[in-house]
Amino acid sequence: MGRLVSAEEMAEDTFETSIRPDSIDEYIGQAELKENLNIFMKAAKMRGEALDHVLLYGPPGLGKTTMAYIIANEMGGNIKTTSGPAIEKSGDLAAVLSTLEPGDILFIDEIHRIPRFIEEILYSAMEDFKLDIIVGTDASSRNITIDLPPFTLVGATTRAGDLTGPLRDRFGIVSKLNFYTEDELKQIVLRTSRVLKSPICEDAAGELAKRSRGTPRVANRLFKRVRDYALVMGDGNIDLSITKIALDKLKVDAYGLDATDYNLLNSIIEKFNGGPVGIDALASSIGEEASTIEDVYEPYLLQNGFLKRTSRGRMVTDKAYKYLKKGKQDTLF
Ligand SMILES: Nc1ncnc2c1ncn2[C@@H]1O[C@H](COP(=O)(O)OP(=O)(O)OP(=O)(O)O)[C@@H](O)[C@H]1O
Ligand SMILES: [Mg+2]
Repeated sequence: MGRLVSAEEMAEDTFETSIRPDSIDEYIGQAELKENLNIFMKAAKMRGEALDHVLLYGPPGLGKTTMAYIIANEMGGNIKTTSGPAIEKSGDLAAVLSTLEPGDILFIDEIHRIPRFIEEILYSAMEDFKLDIIVGTDASSRNITIDLPPFTLVGATTRAGDLTGPLRDRFGIVSKLNFYTEDELKQIVLRTSRVLKSPICEDAAGELAKRSRGTPRVANRLFKRVRDYALVMGDGNIDLSITKIALDKLKVDAYGLDATDYNLLNSIIEKFNGGPVGIDALASSIGEEASTIEDVYEPYLLQNGFLKRTSRGRMVTDKAYKYLKKGKQDTLF
């Protein structure tokens, strides 16, 4: 089943593809991941083997898909892509596996969403390059085994914790992507500006970097919006002052927190007296999915010390009270 996407989402997708780095040297940041991958890729090439299977995990927009494409480019293989939610029947997985050629990269996005009963097909495919399937119906059904060519599975997930142990253990290379530093994001913004041939001042790039939640996708999206403001309200020049005006209008604050972050923190303070509050109660109080909070909003708030997780739920920190200029209420009990 194809996912329904709006025209705007499609435009975003083309935008993302157009500014995606396609070699590992152009990929900014994630130094440890790059260094390790470089060695493993070189070694695999020297031995004439496929690269070991790679699992990339971390919050959205940090460059997992980008890295999967880079691995294919660097290894000189084709990339076939699918995603957990697109694999509903064992036949769906068998179909992609049987198209693989030697040295191909199979990219499975949101790999934690593959149904458990299908996962088992992956085990022997990953370990022995064999595809075990059942053909025929009922009485006449039998198992057949098809040899697969050596290939590399690159799995991406925002939730490594949702993977089963047996699946996780079959990845030879497991790497967490971290939030980017301000300096790395600045380099990403400057690179995007070069690729799109829209010059931006150094200090404006720095300001964008500061407000991008440690996330390249956010940095690039903000760049795109600021470029629009500069064109329509200024002279097309992306300097610091138009950047600040645009970011304020977009309601992106100095930490890169947006309306949903505010809503989330304020809600814990006002409705739950600062917490601890369970994720489901919090989710329904702000009208977001629990998984969206956990995958998209929470990681950055935790990293920046606005939120903490305790065994009894989420709590806001003193830093959040101070930043939001809220006083702590005395508890009555
Ligand atoms: N290291 C990087 N250097 C330069 N640009 C990057 C880097 N990482 C990501 N980007 C840019 O950020 C955008 C988002 O990256 P990508 O789609 O790879 O993220 P993702 O981790 O797959 O996100 P999701 O979990 O939502 O699928 C890409 O368009 C890419 O241009
Ligand atoms: Mg992706």
